[in-house]
Amino acid sequence: MKPVSTDLCTRIIQASDPTELSKTVETLKRSKPVAIPTETVYGLAANALDSLACSRIFSVKNRPTDNPLICHISSMEMMGMLVFDVPKKVKPVLERFWPGPLTVLLPKSEAVPDIVSAGLPTVGVRFPSHPVAQQIIALCGFPLAAPSANLSGRPSPTTAQHVLNDLQGRIEYIVDGGSSSVGLESTVLDVTSEPPMILRPGAITAAMLRPFLPDVQVYGSDPSKRNIELEERPSTPGMKYKHYAPTAPVVLVRPGKDLEQRVLQFISCHTEARRIIMLCTTERPATPRVETMYLSRTGCLQEVARNLFSCLREADLMSPTWIIAEAADEGADEAALAIMNRLSKAATLTI
Ligand code: TXA
Ligand code: MG
Repeated sequence: MKPVSTDLCTRIIQASDPTELSKTVETLKRSKPVAIPTETVYGLAANALDSLACSRIFSVKNRPTDNPLICHISSMEMMGMLVFDVPKKVKPVLERFWPGPLTVLLPKSEAVPDIVSAGLPTVGVRFPSHPVAQQIIALCGFPLAAPSANLSGRPSPTTAQHVLNDLQGRIEYIVDGGSSSVGLESTVLDVTSEPPMILRPGAITAAMLRPFLPDVQVYGSDPSKRNIELEERPSTPGMKYKHYAPTAPVVLVRPGKDLEQRVLQFISCHTEARRIIMLCTTERPATPRVETMYLSRTGCLQEVARNLFSCLREADLMSPTWIIAEAADEGADEAALAIMNRLSKAATLTI
């Protein structure tokens, strides 16, 4: 991978300014990556059909080249640039959930460079609902490959400022389209496998997909197959890398009646800890020596998802010794699955 320049003048521009927006489109047309807003997280975008442009995404992010990129479209006609065909059973899924936070893996066309799919025969396609993302893709006239716009291994960015914190000096433009409303990356659905498989849980859950794909499964959810699957066939190449981790170590607290005792015991075992920040999903009484940050005060899982990466980054900036994160109960609500998928990868310890 070519070394990336880190002395560019990075500017945040407002999506509402047409002159500025057209500069970013020109930059994309010149094979340079630009950070753009989407409803899930901010993406680091480049022309998906241009291997030079896409290779720059990998350098800017420090991303391993065996981890494929998702391609973003702004109309169903653009699908034709990426895939030969959409299977009949998949069409109703796209009609229902696009535009939105769902990525579908389909056999790729020859136009998709190998660097995008990391040599795999499939390509991930997503039609984002964010109006600014749609506008930029439409102005470009080509699909945009875009992974999350963080440095590899860091929590995904949900604001333009998060992107700036990670990529300052490495790209020219960050388009500000406000805070991402979903806050977690898209659901990745493999429709080339039998049965169709959710490889990465997100806002579109298996229960939501089941009316359209009755046999859809969530990868790794069958406890009898879990270890074999994870060891022998990581679902997405991205799975084997360290993810979503702030600099401070994260301790995950399982739900349960004795949660308070477990937190107290952890704190009493770490008398050396200078600063402990706890990310909570519901209102709770104060714990001595612990600063509270709320992901939600009411247990609303959509709110927890929206705030998770942002709170991990905010807590990290306060240089704590530990970040304690309250787990969401996967048994109680399927929406917790996407949250726990990210949190368990960020955590170094579970209590
Ligand atoms: O919401 C999102 O999906 C955001 C926004 C920017 O659209 N993008 C995003 O991209 O999260 P990224 O690169 O951070 O995550 C994409 C994941 C990776 O884990 C990658 O391994 C997997 O999708 N993936 C992409 N193409 C794949 C393929 N052909 N086969 C298997 N996994 C694939
Ligand atoms: Mg990512």
